[in-house]
Amino acid sequence: MQLSIAFVFSSLLILAVASPVERSVDTVRIPLTKRGDFTAEDGTVDPQALRAHLTRRLVNYQHGFAAFEQNTGKPHPLSTPELLSKRFAMPGLMALQPVEDYMWRGAIHVGTPPQNFQVDFDTGSSDLFLPGQACTTNCDGHSKYDPTKSNSAKDLHKTYTVSYGDGTEASGEQWSDNIIFAGYQASQFGADGIMGMGFPEISRFSSESVVSKLLQPFASGSRIFAFRLDNDNPELTVGRMDKSLYEGDITYMPVTDEGFWQINMDSISINGTTVAQKTPAIIDTGTTAVIGSTQDVAAFYAAIPGSKDASEEIGGGYYTIPCANPPASNFTFGGRAFTMPGESLRGAPLGSDATRCAGNVVASDHQSFWIIGDRFLSNVFSVFDLGAKRVGFATLSDLSTDEDDDDESA
Ligand SMILES: *[C@@H]1O[C@H](CO)[C@@H](O)[C@H](O)[C@H]1NC(C)=O
Ligand SMILES: *[C@@H]1O[C@H](CO)[C@@H](O)[C@H](O)[C@H]1NC(C)=O
Repeated sequence: MQLSIAFVFSSLLILAVASPVERSVDTVRIPLTKRGDFTAEDGTVDPQALRAHLTRRLVNYQHGFAAFEQNTGKPHPLSTPELLSKRFAMPGLMALQPVEDYMWRGAIHVGTPPQNFQVDFDTGSSDLFLPGQACTTNCDGHSKYDPTKSNSAKDLHKTYTVSYGDGTEASGEQWSDNIIFAGYQASQFGADGIMGMGFPEISRFSSESVVSKLLQPFASGSRIFAFRLDNDNPELTVGRMDKSLYEGDITYMPVTDEGFWQINMDSISINGTTVAQKTPAIIDTGTTAVIGSTQDVAAFYAAIPGSKDASEEIGGGYYTIPCANPPASNFTFGGRAFTMPGESLRGAPLGSDATRCAGNVVASDHQSFWIIGDRFLSNVFSVFDLGAKRVGFATLSDLSTDEDDDDESA
């Protein structure tokens, strides 16, 4: 399948079937490489990169909602016609452009003998996309999947087309092959593909995610994956939970609508003001920002003296806060407050005014729910439980002593 759209992989392949995990290993730990910071070389905010990321993610949600309706025959409870029909005015911007450097990525092996890829681990979508041999646009330096070199590759004899918010389309072929999570560090180079980790309801192919298939043979209590997205030891754990990665209890919230990892959030409060209450929240490792409704986000910034609308300087939905002393905010789930420190709210300073910093809480029109992205998630241990269909948060443990003690790097 050929196509020729700028900025997108010209052929994407979906690997809809995954097998074998080594049964003897019940926890696989995958080191992650941190995403970029949306800053220009001089350290000021890169408005275009921020807008591009936001647009890609919102288009991703449109795709997820559309897939949900197709798969289940009913509209997604959080989708609205306005949200679904919203047009994004950034030509050439691709929701699936996997070359972006703003995601958490790690390594996987695909096929027999194994071909190595780096993928973005995305709980906000459910399909695996890799660049194929026909990819010529933006594929330099990226690994391309070659099914003819894999003994275990199966042609599903299905093609697919994905249409983007700007009216362009991409297409590719569907294959299945064996996939193994690799326990080595991804290189600094950008990701080759995207691995969705959501439920089949939002899969474009009504397909279970790779991680769900991999965990199928496990007992229900071990059908879990969990993220530490902190700067020092970012890591994805698949399988039985490693208790050294968090401290104290895990607070769990049931998934309310299978599709996205959607749960109920009790409230968001900042500087003594409650700005949102009893709202659906989608837990999304593939989104950097924390995104809420226009109204909630306006209330959020109203509680921060000196904050300003930055739709002119950065883009629609963005605000700035004074760079000095950014306030902490609380996100309460399951009756427990989890704090997002001010440093996580504060982005890079504006090029035009170094006292104003981009805020990492962003507003989206026609959206009645919150998307909880990495700026929040990087402060907690997050657990995605496929067996019990729930999301859990816990306090991150301090791993710095472990690091000093072991000689793995030697
Ligand atoms: C966040 O919650 C903690 C613990 O309940 C509390 O001490 C703190 O004052 C809260 N902060 C905000 C900004 O609401
Ligand atoms: C909280 O709000 C009060 C009243 O507007 C203000 O004086 C104070 O600076 C705010 N604190 C933060 C951390 O923004």
